[in-house]
Amino acid sequence: MTEIQTRARTAEGLLPASGSTGHEWWRTAVIYQVYPRSFADSNGDGVGDLPGITAHLPALQELGVDAVWLSPFMTSPQRDAGYDVADYCDVDPLFGTLDDFDRMLEAAHALGLRVIVDLVPNHTSSDHRWFQEALASAEGSEARSHYWFRDGKGENGELPPNNWESVFGGPAWTRTTNADGTPGQWYLHLFDSSQPDLNWESPWVWEQFRGILRFWLDRGVDGFRIDVAHGMVKAKGLPDYTPEQRGGSLSGASVTLEPDISDEEPGSPMWAQEGGHDIFRDWHKVLAEYDGDRALCGEAWVSPPAKLARYVRSDEMQQTFNFTYLETPWNPDALRDVIAESLAAFNGVGAPSTWVLSNHDVIRHPTRFGLMDGSPQGHGIGPKTPYRPNKALGLQRARAATTVMLALPGSAYLYQGEELGLPEVIDLPDSARQDPTWFRTGGERYGRDGCRVPIPWTASGPSYGFSDSGKSWLPQPSEWATMARDVESDEPDSTLSLYKLLLAEREERSLGGGTLEWLEGYGDDVVAFRNGDVTVLANLGRASVPLPAGEVVLSSEQLDGDELPTDTAVWISD
Ligand code: GLC
Ligand code: CA
Repeated sequence: MTEIQTRARTAEGLLPASGSTGHEWWRTAVIYQVYPRSFADSNGDGVGDLPGITAHLPALQELGVDAVWLSPFMTSPQRDAGYDVADYCDVDPLFGTLDDFDRMLEAAHALGLRVIVDLVPNHTSSDHRWFQEALASAEGSEARSHYWFRDGKGENGELPPNNWESVFGGPAWTRTTNADGTPGQWYLHLFDSSQPDLNWESPWVWEQFRGILRFWLDRGVDGFRIDVAHGMVKAKGLPDYTPEQRGGSLSGASVTLEPDISDEEPGSPMWAQEGGHDIFRDWHKVLAEYDGDRALCGEAWVSPPAKLARYVRSDEMQQTFNFTYLETPWNPDALRDVIAESLAAFNGVGAPSTWVLSNHDVIRHPTRFGLMDGSPQGHGIGPKTPYRPNKALGLQRARAATTVMLALPGSAYLYQGEELGLPEVIDLPDSARQDPTWFRTGGERYGRDGCRVPIPWTASGPSYGFSDSGKSWLPQPSEWATMARDVESDEPDSTLSLYKLLLAEREERSLGGGTLEWLEGYGDDVVAFRNGDVTVLANLGRASVPLPAGEVVLSSEQLDGDELPTDTAVWISD
Protein backbone atom coordinates (compact mmCIF):
# COMPACT_ATOMS: atom_id res chain seq x y z
CA MET A 1 0.00 0.00 0.00
CA THR A 2 1.40 3.42 -0.87
CA GLU A 3 1.74 6.14 1.71
CA ILE A 4 -1.11 8.04 0.09
CA GLN A 5 -3.45 5.06 0.35
CA THR A 6 -2.58 4.63 4.01
CA ARG A 7 -3.36 8.25 4.64
CA ALA A 8 -6.72 7.98 2.90
CA ARG A 9 -7.63 4.93 4.96
CA THR A 10 -6.62 6.63 8.19
CA ALA A 11 -8.64 9.71 7.38
CA GLU A 12 -11.62 7.54 6.54
CA GLY A 13 -11.49 6.14 10.08
CA LEU A 14 -12.20 9.59 11.48
CA LEU A 15 -15.40 10.08 9.56
CA PRO A 16 -18.85 8.84 10.42
CA ALA A 17 -19.03 5.21 9.29
CA SER A 18 -19.94 4.70 5.64
CA GLY A 19 -23.54 3.69 5.16
CA SER A 20 -24.77 0.41 3.83
CA THR A 21 -26.33 0.51 0.38
CA GLY A 22 -29.23 2.90 0.52
CA HIS A 23 -27.73 4.72 3.51
CA GLU A 24 -24.61 6.24 1.98
CA TRP A 25 -23.62 9.64 3.38
CA TRP A 26 -24.32 11.49 0.13
CA ARG A 27 -28.00 10.54 0.15
CA THR A 28 -28.77 12.96 2.96
CA ALA A 29 -25.73 15.23 3.22
CA VAL A 30 -25.78 19.00 3.42
CA ILE A 31 -22.82 20.05 1.28
CA TYR A 32 -21.27 23.51 1.60
CA GLN A 33 -19.67 25.03 -1.48
CA VAL A 34 -16.39 26.76 -0.75
CA TYR A 35 -15.32 29.15 -3.49
CA PRO A 36 -11.62 29.11 -2.57
CA ARG A 37 -10.61 32.52 -3.93
CA SER A 38 -13.31 34.25 -1.85
CA PHE A 39 -13.39 32.22 1.38
CA ALA A 40 -10.33 33.19 3.45
CA ASP A 41 -6.91 34.56 2.51
CA SER A 42 -3.96 33.34 4.61
CA ASN A 43 -1.04 35.17 2.98
CA GLY A 44 -2.38 38.66 2.38
CA ASP A 45 -2.46 38.65 -1.44
CA GLY A 46 -6.20 39.31 -1.48
CA VAL A 47 -7.14 35.89 -2.88
CA GLY A 48 -8.45 33.12 -0.67
CA ASP A 49 -6.38 29.94 -0.48
CA LEU A 50 -6.16 26.41 0.91
CA PRO A 51 -4.48 27.31 4.24
CA GLY A 52 -7.25 29.90 4.67
CA ILE A 53 -9.84 27.16 4.23
CA THR A 54 -8.06 24.86 6.68
CA ALA A 55 -7.99 27.62 9.30
CA HIS A 56 -11.73 28.22 9.00
CA LEU A 57 -13.04 24.65 8.75
CA PRO A 58 -14.14 24.68 12.40
CA ALA A 59 -16.66 27.40 11.50
CA LEU A 60 -18.21 25.01 8.99
CA GLN A 61 -18.35 22.18 11.48
CA GLU A 62 -20.01 24.59 13.91
CA LEU A 63 -22.50 25.56 11.20
CA GLY A 64 -23.47 21.91 11.01
CA VAL A 65 -22.79 20.86 7.41
CA ASP A 66 -21.66 17.33 6.48
CA ALA A 67 -19.32 18.01 3.60
CA VAL A 68 -17.59 20.72 1.61
CA TRP A 69 -17.24 21.04 -2.13
CA LEU A 70 -14.30 23.13 -3.30
CA SER A 71 -14.46 24.99 -6.61
CA PRO A 72 -11.23 24.47 -8.62
CA PHE A 73 -7.85 25.20 -7.00
CA MET A 74 -5.77 23.32 -9.58
CA THR A 75 -3.05 24.90 -11.73
CA SER A 76 -4.71 27.48 -13.94
CA PRO A 77 -4.11 30.85 -15.59
CA GLN A 78 -7.41 31.90 -13.91
CA ARG A 79 -9.10 33.24 -17.02
CA ASP A 80 -12.34 31.69 -15.78
CA ALA A 81 -11.53 31.73 -12.06
CA GLY A 82 -9.92 28.28 -12.15
CA TYR A 83 -12.50 26.58 -14.41
CA ASP A 84 -9.68 26.64 -16.96
CA VAL A 85 -7.31 23.95 -15.74
CA ALA A 86 -3.73 23.71 -16.97
CA ASP A 87 -2.72 20.78 -14.72
CA TYR A 88 -5.38 18.58 -13.16
CA CYS A 89 -2.96 16.97 -10.70
CA ASP A 90 -1.41 19.96 -9.01
CA VAL A 91 -2.45 22.97 -6.94
CA ASP A 92 -2.13 26.48 -8.37
CA PRO A 93 0.46 28.49 -6.38
CA LEU A 94 -2.28 31.11 -5.91
CA PHE A 95 -4.05 28.62 -3.62
CA GLY A 96 -1.04 26.83 -2.10
CA THR A 97 0.55 23.43 -2.66
CA LEU A 98 -0.45 19.77 -2.76
CA ASP A 99 0.80 19.55 0.84
CA ASP A 100 -1.61 22.34 1.77
CA PHE A 101 -4.36 20.33 0.11
CA ASP A 102 -3.45 17.19 2.07
CA ARG A 103 -3.43 19.19 5.32
CA MET A 104 -6.81 20.69 4.50
CA LEU A 105 -8.26 17.28 3.70
CA GLU A 106 -6.89 15.75 6.86
CA ALA A 107 -8.22 18.62 8.96
CA ALA A 108 -11.66 18.35 7.33
CA HIS A 109 -11.83 14.60 7.90
CA ALA A 110 -10.72 15.06 11.51
CA LEU A 111 -13.71 17.38 11.96
CA GLY A 112 -16.02 14.82 10.35
CA LEU A 113 -16.39 16.85 7.14
CA ARG A 114 -16.19 15.07 3.78
CA VAL A 115 -14.50 16.82 0.87
CA ILE A 116 -15.58 16.95 -2.76
CA VAL A 117 -13.34 18.53 -5.38
CA ASP A 118 -14.29 20.10 -8.69
CA LEU A 119 -13.37 18.28 -11.89
CA VAL A 120 -13.50 20.18 -15.18
CA PRO A 121 -13.57 17.57 -17.96
CA ASN A 122 -15.44 19.40 -20.73
CA HIS A 123 -12.47 21.61 -21.53
CA THR A 124 -8.92 22.35 -20.44
CA SER A 125 -7.13 25.66 -20.27
CA SER A 126 -5.47 26.66 -23.51
CA ASP A 127 -2.28 26.67 -21.41
CA HIS A 128 -2.61 22.92 -20.79
CA ARG A 129 0.27 21.01 -22.35
CA TRP A 130 -2.21 18.79 -24.23
CA PHE A 131 -3.54 21.83 -26.04
CA GLN A 132 -0.12 23.36 -26.56
CA GLU A 133 1.02 20.06 -28.10
CA ALA A 134 -2.07 20.02 -30.29
CA LEU A 135 -1.34 23.55 -31.52
CA ALA A 136 2.25 22.62 -32.29
CA SER A 137 1.18 19.45 -34.13
CA ALA A 138 0.06 19.05 -37.71
CA GLU A 139 -3.57 19.10 -38.88
CA GLY A 140 -5.03 15.63 -38.53
CA SER A 141 -2.46 14.58 -35.90
CA GLU A 142 -3.18 12.45 -32.86
CA ALA A 143 -2.50 15.45 -30.59
CA ARG A 144 -5.16 17.51 -32.39
CA SER A 145 -7.69 14.68 -32.10
CA HIS A 146 -7.87 15.27 -28.32
CA TYR A 147 -9.69 18.54 -29.04
CA TRP A 148 -12.08 19.76 -31.75
CA PHE A 149 -9.89 21.18 -34.51
CA ARG A 150 -11.72 21.81 -37.78
CA ASP A 151 -11.07 23.62 -41.03
CA GLY A 152 -13.03 26.83 -41.44
CA LYS A 153 -15.77 27.35 -43.98
CA GLY A 154 -15.63 29.89 -46.78
CA GLU A 155 -13.20 30.20 -49.64
CA ASN A 156 -10.12 30.47 -47.43
CA GLY A 157 -11.41 28.87 -44.28
CA GLU A 158 -12.16 32.31 -42.90
CA LEU A 159 -15.57 31.36 -41.45
CA PRO A 160 -16.07 29.26 -38.30
CA PRO A 161 -16.83 25.54 -38.91
CA ASN A 162 -20.38 25.94 -37.58
CA ASN A 163 -22.65 28.61 -36.08
CA TRP A 164 -22.39 27.66 -32.40
CA GLU A 165 -22.18 30.44 -29.84
CA SER A 166 -20.09 30.46 -26.69
CA VAL A 167 -22.02 30.41 -23.41
CA PHE A 168 -20.01 33.50 -22.46
CA GLY A 169 -20.96 35.34 -25.67
CA GLY A 170 -19.46 35.50 -29.15
CA PRO A 171 -18.60 32.58 -31.43
CA ALA A 172 -17.71 29.16 -29.98
CA TRP A 173 -14.74 28.85 -32.38
CA THR A 174 -11.37 30.56 -32.51
CA ARG A 175 -8.97 30.38 -35.42
CA THR A 176 -5.38 29.32 -34.83
CA THR A 177 -2.26 30.73 -36.45
CA ASN A 178 0.23 28.36 -38.03
CA ALA A 179 3.95 28.45 -37.20
CA ASP A 180 4.62 30.34 -40.44
CA GLY A 181 2.11 33.03 -39.47
CA THR A 182 -0.64 31.95 -41.86
CA PRO A 183 -4.17 31.44 -40.51
CA GLY A 184 -4.81 27.83 -39.50
CA GLN A 185 -7.61 25.58 -38.30
CA TRP A 186 -10.29 26.56 -35.83
CA TYR A 187 -10.91 24.99 -32.39
CA LEU A 188 -14.16 24.67 -30.47
CA HIS A 189 -14.77 26.28 -27.08
CA LEU A 190 -18.26 26.27 -25.59
CA PHE A 191 -16.97 28.77 -23.03
CA ASP A 192 -14.05 31.23 -23.24
CA SER A 193 -11.50 31.01 -26.06
CA SER A 194 -9.00 30.06 -23.33
CA GLN A 195 -11.11 26.93 -22.62
CA PRO A 196 -10.81 24.55 -25.62
CA ASP A 197 -13.31 21.67 -25.48
CA LEU A 198 -11.87 18.18 -25.17
CA ASN A 199 -12.97 15.57 -27.67
CA TRP A 200 -14.66 12.80 -25.67
CA GLU A 201 -14.73 10.60 -28.76
CA SER A 202 -11.03 10.05 -28.10
CA PRO A 203 -10.21 6.97 -25.97
CA TRP A 204 -6.99 8.75 -24.98
CA VAL A 205 -9.05 11.45 -23.25
CA TRP A 206 -11.00 8.78 -21.36
CA GLU A 207 -7.75 7.24 -20.14
CA GLN A 208 -6.35 10.57 -18.93
CA PHE A 209 -9.42 11.28 -16.83
CA ARG A 210 -9.47 7.84 -15.22
CA GLY A 211 -5.94 8.67 -14.06
CA ILE A 212 -6.99 12.10 -12.78
CA LEU A 213 -9.89 10.61 -10.81
CA ARG A 214 -7.53 8.07 -9.24
CA PHE A 215 -4.98 10.76 -8.40
CA TRP A 216 -7.49 12.56 -6.14
CA LEU A 217 -9.22 9.41 -4.91
CA ASP A 218 -5.83 8.08 -3.77
CA ARG A 219 -5.28 11.30 -1.83
CA GLY A 220 -8.55 10.61 -0.03
CA VAL A 221 -11.19 12.88 -1.54
CA ASP A 222 -14.78 11.80 -0.99
CA GLY A 223 -15.97 12.68 -4.46
CA PHE A 224 -16.11 15.08 -7.36
CA ARG A 225 -18.40 17.77 -8.63
CA ILE A 226 -18.42 17.34 -12.42
CA ASP A 227 -18.33 20.64 -14.28
CA VAL A 228 -20.54 20.95 -17.40
CA ALA A 229 -21.44 17.26 -17.22
CA HIS A 230 -24.14 17.77 -19.84
CA GLY A 231 -21.77 19.27 -22.43
CA MET A 232 -18.96 16.75 -22.73
CA VAL A 233 -20.28 14.82 -25.73
CA LYS A 234 -21.31 16.64 -28.89
CA ALA A 235 -23.66 15.47 -31.66
CA LYS A 236 -21.93 13.70 -34.53
CA GLY A 237 -20.82 16.05 -37.27
CA LEU A 238 -21.21 19.16 -35.08
CA PRO A 239 -24.31 20.37 -36.97
CA ASP A 240 -25.36 24.03 -37.05
CA TYR A 241 -27.87 24.96 -34.41
CA THR A 242 -29.95 28.04 -33.70
CA PRO A 243 -31.32 27.98 -30.15
CA GLU A 244 -34.80 29.24 -29.49
CA GLN A 245 -34.78 32.89 -28.53
CA ARG A 246 -34.37 33.19 -24.80
CA GLY A 247 -35.62 36.31 -23.18
CA GLY A 248 -38.06 37.87 -20.77
CA SER A 249 -38.42 36.30 -17.40
CA LEU A 250 -38.39 32.56 -16.96
CA SER A 251 -41.92 31.30 -17.50
CA GLY A 252 -43.53 34.08 -15.54
CA ALA A 253 -40.87 33.92 -12.90
CA SER A 254 -40.01 36.97 -10.87
CA VAL A 255 -36.37 36.02 -11.07
CA THR A 256 -33.71 36.35 -13.67
CA LEU A 257 -30.71 34.13 -13.91
CA GLU A 258 -27.40 33.89 -15.56
CA PRO A 259 -25.36 32.55 -17.18
CA ASP A 260 -27.12 30.92 -20.10
CA ILE A 261 -25.75 27.49 -19.29
CA SER A 262 -29.26 26.21 -18.86
CA ASP A 263 -30.03 26.50 -22.55
CA GLU A 264 -30.36 22.78 -22.92
CA GLU A 265 -33.11 22.34 -25.48
CA PRO A 266 -34.46 19.40 -27.39
CA GLY A 267 -32.38 18.94 -30.48
CA SER A 268 -29.39 20.90 -29.20
CA PRO A 269 -26.18 19.29 -30.52
CA MET A 270 -24.01 20.44 -27.61
CA TRP A 271 -26.08 19.70 -24.51
CA ALA A 272 -27.40 16.49 -22.94
CA GLN A 273 -26.23 14.05 -25.60
CA GLU A 274 -27.00 10.40 -24.94
CA GLY A 275 -23.34 9.37 -25.34
CA GLY A 276 -22.35 11.35 -22.25
CA HIS A 277 -23.88 8.72 -20.01
CA ASP A 278 -21.24 6.15 -21.00
CA ILE A 279 -18.56 8.35 -19.45
CA PHE A 280 -20.34 8.42 -16.09
CA ARG A 281 -20.81 4.65 -16.19
CA ASP A 282 -17.06 4.33 -16.65
CA TRP A 283 -16.30 6.71 -13.79
CA HIS A 284 -18.83 4.95 -11.55
CA LYS A 285 -16.66 1.83 -11.89
CA VAL A 286 -13.49 3.76 -11.03
CA LEU A 287 -15.07 5.13 -7.84
CA ALA A 288 -16.38 1.70 -6.91
CA GLU A 289 -12.77 0.45 -6.67
CA TYR A 290 -12.44 2.64 -3.57
CA ASP A 291 -13.94 2.32 -0.11
CA GLY A 292 -15.94 5.00 1.66
CA ASP A 293 -18.87 5.67 -0.66
CA ARG A 294 -17.11 8.11 -2.95
CA ALA A 295 -19.56 10.15 -5.00
CA LEU A 296 -19.95 12.08 -8.25
CA CYS A 297 -22.22 15.10 -8.42
CA GLY A 298 -23.00 16.36 -11.90
CA GLU A 299 -23.44 19.94 -12.97
CA ALA A 300 -26.01 19.22 -15.67
CA TRP A 301 -28.31 22.11 -16.60
CA VAL A 302 -30.96 19.73 -17.85
CA SER A 303 -34.70 19.83 -17.34
CA PRO A 304 -37.27 18.56 -16.64
CA PRO A 305 -36.26 16.51 -13.56
CA ALA A 306 -37.25 13.27 -15.32
CA LYS A 307 -34.51 13.88 -17.88
CA LEU A 308 -32.06 15.06 -15.26
CA ALA A 309 -32.59 11.87 -13.24
CA ARG A 310 -31.04 9.88 -16.09
CA TYR A 311 -27.65 11.19 -14.90
CA VAL A 312 -28.07 9.42 -11.56
CA ARG A 313 -29.26 6.00 -12.64
CA SER A 314 -27.75 3.35 -10.39
CA ASP A 315 -24.63 2.83 -12.53
CA GLU A 316 -23.95 6.53 -13.28
CA MET A 317 -23.36 9.51 -10.96
CA GLN A 318 -24.62 9.56 -7.37
CA GLN A 319 -26.04 13.08 -7.42
CA THR A 320 -26.84 15.85 -9.82
CA PHE A 321 -27.68 19.46 -9.05
CA ASN A 322 -31.36 20.25 -9.23
CA PHE A 323 -31.26 23.52 -11.16
CA THR A 324 -34.95 23.32 -11.96
CA TYR A 325 -35.46 23.81 -8.22
CA LEU A 326 -32.98 26.70 -8.16
CA GLU A 327 -34.82 28.39 -11.03
CA THR A 328 -38.25 28.06 -9.44
CA PRO A 329 -39.87 31.42 -8.67
CA TRP A 330 -41.41 32.29 -5.31
CA ASN A 331 -44.80 30.95 -6.25
CA PRO A 332 -46.70 28.28 -4.27
CA ASP A 333 -47.87 26.19 -7.23
CA ALA A 334 -44.46 26.26 -8.88
CA LEU A 335 -42.76 25.30 -5.62
CA ARG A 336 -45.11 22.39 -4.93
CA ASP A 337 -44.76 21.18 -8.51
CA VAL A 338 -40.98 21.21 -8.62
CA ILE A 339 -40.69 19.41 -5.28
CA ALA A 340 -43.17 16.73 -6.31
CA GLU A 341 -41.67 16.34 -9.76
CA SER A 342 -38.13 16.12 -8.40
CA LEU A 343 -38.95 13.53 -5.75
CA ALA A 344 -40.85 11.40 -8.26
CA ALA A 345 -38.06 11.58 -10.82
CA PHE A 346 -35.17 10.83 -8.46
CA ASN A 347 -37.06 8.19 -6.47
CA GLY A 348 -37.78 6.57 -9.80
CA VAL A 349 -34.08 5.81 -10.29
CA GLY A 350 -33.24 5.18 -6.63
CA ALA A 351 -31.21 8.38 -6.25
CA PRO A 352 -31.57 11.15 -3.69
CA SER A 353 -33.07 14.38 -4.88
CA THR A 354 -30.77 17.34 -4.39
CA TRP A 355 -31.80 20.90 -3.59
CA VAL A 356 -29.90 24.09 -4.19
CA LEU A 357 -30.70 27.82 -4.19
CA SER A 358 -27.35 29.53 -4.80
CA ASN A 359 -23.92 28.90 -6.28
CA HIS A 360 -21.02 30.81 -7.86
CA ASP A 361 -22.81 31.13 -11.24
CA VAL A 362 -26.16 32.65 -10.30
CA ILE A 363 -27.51 35.74 -8.58
CA ARG A 364 -27.53 35.06 -4.84
CA HIS A 365 -31.01 34.00 -3.78
CA PRO A 366 -31.76 36.86 -1.33
CA THR A 367 -31.35 39.20 -4.31
CA ARG A 368 -33.10 36.94 -6.80
CA PHE A 369 -36.19 36.72 -4.61
CA GLY A 370 -36.17 40.50 -4.25
CA LEU A 371 -36.38 41.19 -7.99
CA MET A 372 -39.85 42.05 -9.15
CA ASP A 373 -41.76 40.60 -12.08
CA GLY A 374 -40.90 41.85 -15.49
CA SER A 375 -37.17 42.12 -15.07
CA PRO A 376 -35.29 41.51 -18.31
CA GLN A 377 -33.49 38.22 -18.73
CA GLY A 378 -30.43 38.63 -16.56
CA HIS A 379 -26.80 37.93 -17.00
CA GLY A 380 -25.83 39.29 -13.65
CA ILE A 381 -26.85 42.67 -12.38
CA GLY A 382 -24.82 45.82 -12.02
CA PRO A 383 -24.95 49.58 -11.57
CA LYS A 384 -26.69 50.18 -14.90
CA THR A 385 -29.37 47.52 -14.46
CA PRO A 386 -32.61 49.53 -14.62
CA TYR A 387 -34.16 48.25 -11.39
CA ARG A 388 -33.05 47.41 -7.88
CA PRO A 389 -34.07 44.43 -5.83
CA ASN A 390 -36.22 44.95 -2.76
CA LYS A 391 -33.58 43.87 -0.25
CA ALA A 392 -35.66 43.31 2.84
CA LEU A 393 -38.31 41.36 0.95
CA GLY A 394 -35.67 39.31 -0.87
CA LEU A 395 -33.92 38.33 2.34
CA GLN A 396 -37.18 37.44 4.05
CA ARG A 397 -38.18 35.19 1.14
CA ALA A 398 -34.70 33.71 0.98
CA ARG A 399 -34.84 32.73 4.65
CA ALA A 400 -38.26 31.18 4.12
CA ALA A 401 -37.06 29.36 1.00
CA THR A 402 -34.08 27.89 2.85
CA THR A 403 -36.35 26.87 5.71
CA VAL A 404 -38.38 24.87 3.18
CA MET A 405 -35.33 23.47 1.41
CA LEU A 406 -33.63 22.12 4.52
CA ALA A 407 -36.79 20.23 5.49
CA LEU A 408 -36.85 18.29 2.23
CA PRO A 409 -35.67 14.68 2.00
CA GLY A 410 -32.43 14.22 0.07
CA SER A 411 -29.21 16.18 -0.08
CA ALA A 412 -28.88 19.97 -0.05
CA TYR A 413 -26.17 22.32 -1.29
CA LEU A 414 -25.31 25.64 0.34
CA TYR A 415 -23.09 28.31 -1.20
CA GLN A 416 -20.61 30.14 1.02
CA GLY A 417 -22.05 33.31 2.49
CA GLU A 418 -25.70 32.36 2.10
CA GLU A 419 -25.68 31.38 5.77
CA LEU A 420 -25.00 35.08 6.44
CA GLY A 421 -27.83 36.16 4.12
CA LEU A 422 -25.37 37.90 1.82
CA PRO A 423 -26.95 39.61 -1.18
CA GLU A 424 -25.52 39.86 -4.68
CA VAL A 425 -23.06 42.78 -4.83
CA ILE A 426 -24.48 45.04 -7.53
CA ASP A 427 -22.27 48.11 -7.31
CA LEU A 428 -18.96 46.64 -8.37
CA PRO A 429 -16.94 49.11 -10.44
CA ASP A 430 -16.46 48.08 -14.06
CA SER A 431 -12.70 48.11 -13.54
CA ALA A 432 -12.96 45.39 -10.88
CA ARG A 433 -14.98 42.92 -12.96
CA GLN A 434 -13.24 39.69 -13.95
CA ASP A 435 -15.87 37.34 -15.36
CA PRO A 436 -15.07 36.41 -18.99
CA THR A 437 -18.76 37.03 -19.78
CA TRP A 438 -18.19 40.72 -19.06
CA PHE A 439 -15.28 40.90 -21.50
CA ARG A 440 -16.74 38.69 -24.22
CA THR A 441 -19.92 40.76 -24.40
CA GLY A 442 -18.16 44.12 -24.21
CA GLY A 443 -19.82 44.87 -20.88
CA GLU A 444 -23.33 44.07 -22.10
CA ARG A 445 -23.66 41.24 -19.56
CA TYR A 446 -22.33 41.88 -16.07
CA GLY A 447 -21.64 38.22 -15.38
CA ARG A 448 -21.12 36.49 -12.07
CA ASP A 449 -18.67 38.58 -10.06
CA GLY A 450 -21.48 39.90 -7.84
CA CYS A 451 -21.96 36.53 -6.11
CA ARG A 452 -18.21 35.93 -5.77
CA VAL A 453 -17.17 38.81 -3.52
CA PRO A 454 -14.94 37.66 -0.60
CA ILE A 455 -17.06 36.89 2.44
CA PRO A 456 -16.97 38.76 5.78
CA TRP A 457 -15.74 37.00 8.92
CA THR A 458 -15.50 39.99 11.26
CA ALA A 459 -17.34 43.30 11.43
CA SER A 460 -14.14 45.23 11.94
CA GLY A 461 -10.58 44.66 10.87
CA PRO A 462 -9.01 44.57 7.41
CA SER A 463 -11.31 43.30 4.64
CA TYR A 464 -13.81 42.14 7.25
CA GLY A 465 -11.50 39.35 8.37
CA PHE A 466 -11.04 37.93 4.87
CA SER A 467 -7.37 38.95 4.66
CA ASP A 468 -5.00 40.47 7.22
CA SER A 469 -3.60 42.79 4.57
CA GLY A 470 -7.00 44.30 3.85
CA LYS A 471 -6.75 43.25 0.22
CA SER A 472 -9.65 41.61 -1.54
CA TRP A 473 -9.65 40.59 -5.21
CA LEU A 474 -13.14 42.06 -5.57
CA PRO A 475 -14.08 45.08 -3.42
CA GLN A 476 -16.35 44.28 -0.49
CA PRO A 477 -19.35 46.52 0.23
CA SER A 478 -19.66 48.38 3.54
CA GLU A 479 -22.81 46.40 4.42
CA TRP A 480 -20.50 43.39 5.02
CA ALA A 481 -19.84 44.99 8.44
CA THR A 482 -23.37 44.25 9.62
CA MET A 483 -23.49 40.77 8.07
CA ALA A 484 -20.13 39.44 9.27
CA ARG A 485 -19.98 36.03 10.90
CA ASP A 486 -18.90 37.34 14.30
CA VAL A 487 -21.85 39.76 14.48
CA GLU A 488 -24.38 37.21 13.31
CA SER A 489 -23.02 34.56 15.71
CA ASP A 490 -24.17 36.70 18.62
CA GLU A 491 -27.63 37.52 17.28
CA PRO A 492 -30.36 34.95 17.87
CA ASP A 493 -32.44 36.24 14.95
CA SER A 494 -29.60 36.45 12.44
CA THR A 495 -29.58 34.41 9.26
CA LEU A 496 -26.55 32.51 10.61
CA SER A 497 -28.46 31.53 13.76
CA LEU A 498 -31.37 30.40 11.60
CA TYR A 499 -29.09 28.22 9.44
CA LYS A 500 -27.46 26.65 12.50
CA LEU A 501 -30.84 25.84 13.97
CA LEU A 502 -32.14 24.47 10.67
CA LEU A 503 -29.11 22.22 10.25
CA ALA A 504 -29.17 20.98 13.84
CA GLU A 505 -32.89 20.17 13.73
CA ARG A 506 -32.63 18.59 10.28
CA GLU A 507 -29.92 16.29 11.62
CA GLU A 508 -31.67 15.59 14.92
CA ARG A 509 -34.91 14.66 13.15
CA SER A 510 -33.20 12.79 10.26
CA LEU A 511 -35.14 14.83 7.73
CA GLY A 512 -32.63 14.12 4.95
CA GLY A 513 -33.61 10.48 5.01
CA GLY A 514 -37.31 11.09 5.57
CA THR A 515 -40.33 10.98 3.30
CA LEU A 516 -42.48 13.87 2.23
CA GLU A 517 -46.22 13.81 2.64
CA TRP A 518 -48.29 16.72 1.27
CA LEU A 519 -50.77 18.34 3.62
CA GLU A 520 -54.08 19.77 2.46
CA GLY A 521 -56.29 22.37 4.05
CA TYR A 522 -53.95 25.33 4.44
CA GLY A 523 -55.08 27.17 1.30
CA ASP A 524 -53.55 27.63 -2.13
CA ASP A 525 -50.91 30.11 -0.99
CA VAL A 526 -49.40 27.86 1.65
CA VAL A 527 -46.91 25.13 0.76
CA ALA A 528 -47.60 22.50 3.42
CA PHE A 529 -45.99 19.11 3.95
CA ARG A 530 -44.86 16.71 6.59
CA ASN A 531 -41.49 15.00 6.94
CA GLY A 532 -41.01 12.74 9.96
CA ASP A 533 -42.45 14.45 13.01
CA VAL A 534 -42.27 17.90 11.44
CA THR A 535 -45.02 19.86 9.74
CA VAL A 536 -43.57 22.47 7.40
CA LEU A 537 -45.64 25.45 6.30
CA ALA A 538 -44.52 28.27 4.03
CA ASN A 539 -46.85 31.18 3.45
CA LEU A 540 -46.33 32.59 -0.05
CA GLY A 541 -49.57 34.58 0.00
CA ARG A 542 -50.35 38.17 0.94
CA ALA A 543 -52.16 37.54 4.24
CA SER A 544 -51.23 35.81 7.49
CA VAL A 545 -52.71 32.36 8.06
CA PRO A 546 -53.54 30.63 11.37
CA LEU A 547 -50.96 28.15 12.69
CA PRO A 548 -52.02 24.60 13.52
CA ALA A 549 -51.58 23.14 17.01
CA GLY A 550 -48.15 21.84 17.96
CA GLU A 551 -44.80 23.07 19.14
CA VAL A 552 -42.94 25.58 16.99
CA VAL A 553 -39.48 24.15 16.33
CA LEU A 554 -38.27 27.16 14.37
CA SER A 555 -39.48 29.84 12.00
CA SER A 556 -37.78 31.94 9.37
CA GLU A 557 -39.12 35.17 10.97
CA GLN A 558 -40.80 36.11 14.24
CA LEU A 559 -44.31 34.68 14.26
CA ASP A 560 -47.29 36.95 14.65
CA GLY A 561 -48.93 35.41 17.74
CA ASP A 562 -50.52 32.21 16.46
CA GLU A 563 -50.42 33.35 12.85
CA LEU A 564 -47.92 32.61 10.12
CA PRO A 565 -47.04 35.92 8.41
CA THR A 566 -46.58 36.29 4.68
CA ASP A 567 -43.23 35.20 3.20
CA THR A 568 -42.47 33.16 6.29
CA ALA A 569 -41.90 29.44 6.85
CA VAL A 570 -42.24 27.42 10.03
CA TRP A 571 -41.46 23.91 11.34
CA ILE A 572 -43.95 22.56 13.86
CA SER A 573 -43.62 19.28 15.72
CA ASP A 574 -46.40 17.21 17.27
C1 GLC B 1 -19.52 25.68 -15.00
C2 GLC B 1 -18.98 26.46 -13.83
C3 GLC B 1 -18.77 27.87 -14.26
C4 GLC B 1 -17.76 27.89 -15.39
C5 GLC B 1 -18.23 27.00 -16.53
C6 GLC B 1 -17.11 26.73 -17.49
O1 GLC B 1 -20.77 26.09 -15.37
O2 GLC B 1 -19.84 26.34 -12.73
O3 GLC B 1 -18.34 28.67 -13.21
O4 GLC B 1 -17.57 29.19 -15.85
O5 GLC B 1 -18.64 25.75 -16.07
O6 GLC B 1 -16.18 25.86 -16.90
CA1 CA C 1 -3.97 34.12 -0.63
